[in-house]
Amino acid sequence: MNFAIIGTQWGDEGKGKIVDYLSEKFDYIVRYQGGNNAGHTVVLGDQKFPLHHIPTGILHKNKICCIGCGVILNPKVFLEELQSLDKRVGNNTARLIIDPKAHLIMPWHILRDSLTGGKIGTTGRGIGPCYEDAIGRRGIRIGDFVYNRNIKKQIQSTIGYYADLAKKLNAQTIYKDYSTTIKAILKRPRVSLGDVGVLLDEKQKNRNILFEGAQATLLDIYFGTYPFVTSSHPTLGGIYIGTGFAPQNIKTVGVVKAYTTRVGEGPFPTELHDKVGKHLAEKGHEFGTTTGRPRRCGWLDLTIIRYAKRISGLSGIALTKLDILTGLTTLKVAVGYKLKGKVIKDFPVFVYDLERVQSIYHEMEGWNDDITGIKSFNNLPKQAKNYVKFIEKETGLPVKYIGVGPERSQLIIR
Ligand code: IMP
Repeated sequence: MNFAIIGTQWGDEGKGKIVDYLSEKFDYIVRYQGGNNAGHTVVLGDQKFPLHHIPTGILHKNKICCIGCGVILNPKVFLEELQSLDKRVGNNTARLIIDPKAHLIMPWHILRDSLTGGKIGTTGRGIGPCYEDAIGRRGIRIGDFVYNRNIKKQIQSTIGYYADLAKKLNAQTIYKDYSTTIKAILKRPRVSLGDVGVLLDEKQKNRNILFEGAQATLLDIYFGTYPFVTSSHPTLGGIYIGTGFAPQNIKTVGVVKAYTTRVGEGPFPTELHDKVGKHLAEKGHEFGTTTGRPRRCGWLDLTIIRYAKRISGLSGIALTKLDILTGLTTLKVAVGYKLKGKVIKDFPVFVYDLERVQSIYHEMEGWNDDITGIKSFNNLPKQAKNYVKFIEKETGLPVKYIGVGPERSQLIIR
């Protein structure tokens, strides 16, 4: 059986921890969308490795990590991450296969993002402009640096499209920089180019694949809170178009933070501006891994989780950061919305509506006991168990994993 780990909210749900825990059980760990706008921390013993590009499975020597064609790559950042791992773990890493069709984040994408990304509150990594070039059929792919003899002309031609930035861009220098960096990446002993779709198809009958999502459902370019979204598909469909793996045998686990956070602009119905919001931000260390920006915090919103369930066919939930709720006397969970006086059941994806909804809350009793050392569901305080059971009842999904702290071991498995 293959597994997909999908963010259900606005990102930063703690997918890395769940992927890290599950990696042991899978042969292939595959990223299928996004770029270095993502951020996760891989923990090995007492060492921490903050990574943006490289899949979480990288520190498992006998595994194969794949970067599918739906991922976009900044080669310089990618090489720096590989080198930072080198210094600390040498060649003790998984094999890394990069699909030659993966598009490259070029200097003009970062420049363009710095001029236009502010309204959305992007991460400024050139993500949107890179995907725009891909869809506009003028993008540059990593394989072009290996197979395309006309690559210099191709760079020149795409720069022609960016007339307003032309003065800041030199095709020859860009070619040289990128070609040197890409050669350095591909010269490494455990890194190579390879068609990820072919690889997964050949092997999937007797091997297990773990698909590692970055970002989340409400940041999906179609299904998210457009235009306050990223430019890829962090939902189930993204796996197929971002790898070439045909729909089959995938169980999707939705990662749900026990409360909600959002970075960047856009509506957020359960957002809190009071001392509870401050509690969640401080106790939950809610600062972006990629940009360091403070995250906005609010109550758990179950309309969002039901929406994620529908879009990605979730079969279970990994609930993270339950320990952050410890110490709150009363907990609120949004179970629905009211729009213009009417109760609505579905998630209103148009931001004009989402801006005007009022959340309908269910109140529950909180708990004070420290839960960070608890290993089994039965030993959780009654109120924490009720919180989990309420989520299961309202979403119709079993909560399979419960995060009670940042370490790999602080995970209750049910
Ligand atoms: P972009 O992906 O840099 O274009 O940013 C678009 C929106 O997605 C912004 O609101 C970002 O804050 C948000 N975003 C992108 N990546 C992440 C992530 O990994 N976690 C949370 N938010 C993200």
